[in-house]
Amino acid sequence: MIASSWAGGWPTVKGEHLPYVIVFVTMSADGKIASVAKDSRLSCPSDKRRLHELRASCDAVVVGAATVASDNPLLTVRLVEGVNPVRVVLDGRLSINPSSRVVTDRSAKTVIAACYDACDEGKVTALRSAGCDVRLFKCVDGYLPLKEVLTYLRDAYRVKKVLVEGGGETIWRFFKEGLVNEFRVTISPFIIGGRASVTPVGGEGFRKLGEWVRLRLIHVIACECGDEVHLIYKVVGRR
Ligand SMILES: NC(=O)c1ccc[n+]([C@@H]2O[C@H](COP(=O)([O-])OP(=O)(O)OC[C@H]3O[C@@H](n4cnc5c(N)ncnc54)[C@H](OP(=O)(O)O)[C@@H]3O)[C@@H](O)[C@H]2O)c1
Repeated sequence: MIASSWAGGWPTVKGEHLPYVIVFVTMSADGKIASVAKDSRLSCPSDKRRLHELRASCDAVVVGAATVASDNPLLTVRLVEGVNPVRVVLDGRLSINPSSRVVTDRSAKTVIAACYDACDEGKVTALRSAGCDVRLFKCVDGYLPLKEVLTYLRDAYRVKKVLVEGGGETIWRFFKEGLVNEFRVTISPFIIGGRASVTPVGGEGFRKLGEWVRLRLIHVIACECGDEVHLIYKVVGRR
């Protein structure tokens, strides 16, 4: 089982722990999480259940605006018993479609994190009226300050454990800011190909060996389906 302590220590803000951040992705055997057509249906039923179990054990689940636009996910716990986590959409430009299921579905709270300067006040009001907590942050180069987002979730919703489900751009921002504690990946028996397909960690990438994030493999699960493997890594620092 997973060790509960992390040798590297948790990132802190003002001396207090930030929430523990787990990334979970399902990727093809050639390392893609979605095709160029944004098809990401890679999970077997057991992998979906694993994801829902993890959601049920987390206080918040985070996705990027592009994942909401392409998958229209509900982000609730459905395949196992459990309480729905707070849904969090990172949406710098507040481009979310108000008819997205995370907006219209009331079975869980939805927080939408967006940048002050990029926001249409009318849309903020409409989304708030629909029940969403639209939280505006001061962004740099259009990027949300993720430490502040995590601090807000901790203070406003008592969030201690966060599940980041993707996509690749969102996961990159969490790694870039040094906020990931655990990386979980299911390797699914498909080859997708395509240099423009989505990979687990996008962005501009870390350039040099000294910048790469070092992981320690702590658990290997052979999936019941017989064709998949699920790997659990702890982040232990830089290479
Ligand atoms: N297989 C899997 O496990 C899995 C899981 C999840 C998603 N996916 C797939 O991944 C694909 C989407 O991935 P993606 O990499 O294209 O996009 P993404 O990470 O879902 O969303 C990226 C967008 O989210 C907003 N965003 C994210 N982090 C931000 C930050 N720190 N500050 C400001 N805005 C931020 C930005 O929107 P703005 O540019 O509008 O500001 C950004 O362009 C979809 O096809 C989905 O199906 C696969």
